[in-house]
Amino acid sequence: MSTTVRILDHRTPEEREREFLPGMGKPWLLPFYDLFSRRVGARALHERAAALADVAPGQSVLDVGCGTANLALTVLRVQPAARVTGLDPDAGALRVAARKATRRRVPITLVQGFADRLPGGDGALDHIVSALALHHVPEEGRVLFAREAVRVLRPGGRVTIVDFGGTDRSGHGHGGHDRRGPGHRAGHGTPRGHGRPRGHGQADLVRLLADAGFTDVREVEHVEHRFGPITFVQATRP
Ligand SMILES: C[S@@+](CC[C@H](N)C(=O)[O-])C[C@H]1O[C@@H](n2cnc3c(N)ncnc32)[C@H](O)[C@@H]1O
Repeated sequence: MSTTVRILDHRTPEEREREFLPGMGKPWLLPFYDLFSRRVGARALHERAAALADVAPGQSVLDVGCGTANLALTVLRVQPAARVTGLDPDAGALRVAARKATRRRVPITLVQGFADRLPGGDGALDHIVSALALHHVPEEGRVLFAREAVRVLRPGGRVTIVDFGGTDRSGHGHGGHDRRGPGHRAGHGTPRGHGRPRGHGQADLVRLLADAGFTDVREVEHVEHRFGPITFVQATRP
């Protein structure tokens, strides 16, 4: 089996100028990202998402907002015969991802780019996965992501997303309004500090995917994490 690890640049000249919110809010915190991720128990979320995705041998998978490729590499561990691509605007995170994949001798393609313009031709992918990343993407970027996901997935292709958000168990209802933390921006404005991540809610994720044309869209699991509610959402491309 090939163990090629490569990093491609999918950005347009305009996208090279675009700002984004890195994994820990500040680029200089990147070296601590994986340690932090492990300490807060993100590994269990990646493992659950990979299990729910249930990728078959030979299937092509795109991890959107892959960062240092924690979910992408978990998918490859569970299904070594998958063809996995990670997408993230953060060149530093992609270099860390490449080092991890090289050390583990697993093949992966890492693409520098944004969730609102996915790499891949129409109907080229079997599965899109994403962990703890879409709350970093501004609202219109998430809408474009969902449309792009419909475009790049084959009919019957699936999406598995784990992110902050979830039904308000207090009974007050979520209402779909923006509860993102102070580090989050609306629109394409300048990202600020990270702040406590607050999801945009499973209701928003479900609606986002349903509005884009996905079928069978539902929250399949919910976890109360110490940083806030975590939702697992799945959907199928009709
Ligand atoms: C909290 S990290 C999650 C990384 C990885 N998925 C994980 O679970 O360890 C959020 C990631 O979203 C990426 N990100 C920020 N804006 C993005 C965008 N517009 N499109 C795609 N990814 C983005 C960040 O660079 C960062 O790597």
